[in-house]
Amino acid sequence: MLQNIAILGCGLIGSSWATWFALQGQKTRLYDVDQTACERGVKRAGENLRRLVDLDMLAAEDLQSALQNLQPVKTLQELLSDCDYVQESVREDYDTKAEVYRAIEQHLSPQAIIASSSSGLLMSKMQEVLKHPSRSLIAHPFNPPHLIPLVELVPGKKTSADTVTTVREFFLRFGKRPVVLNKEVPGHIANRLAAAVWREALALLDDDVASLEDIDAALCNGPGLRWALMGQHAIYDLGGGEGGYQAFIDGIGRSFTSYWEDMQTWTRIPESAREKAIAGIEPLRKKCPPEERAQWRDEKLVRLLKLLDE
Ligand SMILES: NC(=O)c1ccc[n+]([C@@H]2O[C@H](COP(=O)([O-])OP(=O)(O)OC[C@H]3O[C@@H](n4cnc5c(N)ncnc54)[C@H](O)[C@@H]3O)[C@@H](O)[C@H]2O)c1
Repeated sequence: MLQNIAILGCGLIGSSWATWFALQGQKTRLYDVDQTACERGVKRAGENLRRLVDLDMLAAEDLQSALQNLQPVKTLQELLSDCDYVQESVREDYDTKAEVYRAIEQHLSPQAIIASSSSGLLMSKMQEVLKHPSRSLIAHPFNPPHLIPLVELVPGKKTSADTVTTVREFFLRFGKRPVVLNKEVPGHIANRLAAAVWREALALLDDDVASLEDIDAALCNGPGLRWALMGQHAIYDLGGGEGGYQAFIDGIGRSFTSYWEDMQTWTRIPESAREKAIAGIEPLRKKCPPEERAQWRDEKLVRLLKLLDE
């Protein structure tokens, strides 16, 4: 049973994870190497919880106990004593993760689980510095983790099957949608899919095929609507009519070759695409500041999640 949760790193993702764990009734300690970041993270998690009351995701009478579940601490020792599960959300680079992993093992019981939020690093490499690597894995959320159900579980070479099962069951019990990767790849599943779409969105902009606004509109008014309901394989199974996925692959699927042949395969963003993207997003930023848009997104996400839950 994972009861005492440690949030290590209280930035964007750590504070959102803290919101989610506190919402589930878990005692959630928060620590950041930067004291101000920790205070900011606790404040943000509190604001998230209050907003969840407005969004009917948390009963008003349960707000105080959820807020009390957020327990900021000032040392790693306080964070990790009696801890069952660490959700690590520090900066995305191997050196920082290695430094943190070396430090936490000095205070952590060998049974406690270490889960990394890493968006695309390999667990096998991160767990090299651990004395007890079998209890470590990646539990990658999607932003914001307190709302989006997906968690990608990625074992490293030394992760035990028990660790994966325990974490998977834990997330399932609290309504998350964990997926388990059979092998490690940079970017896991969801960020690789996002990377493929993003490259093409940048390439279309760079090639002046359409405006940034229209490229985004094409995505969220078309495929994006279906993606909330089913994945690409299931969508094209319907696209094949009575013949199903096989008919799609052998029929219209063949014409995709001419699209793929015409598409970019670059692995670094060209300067021209970078400039057009930054300039192209400006009108939207002026019309509606990011903070307002994030609130709007969260409110709609909650309504969508409720609908999907019916
Ligand atoms: N931003 C996203 O959309 C997103 C989505 C999913 C996963 N992630 C992953 O989550 C992790 C954190 O990303 P973020 O966007 O929250 O970053 P962030 O920069 O907002 O927060 C990182 C926090 O880690 C703290 N930190 C750095 N070194 C530390 C140390 N030694 N000990 C304790 N705290 C330390 C920093 O002070 C900072 O507050 C990364 O691995 C990232 O890949 C990010």
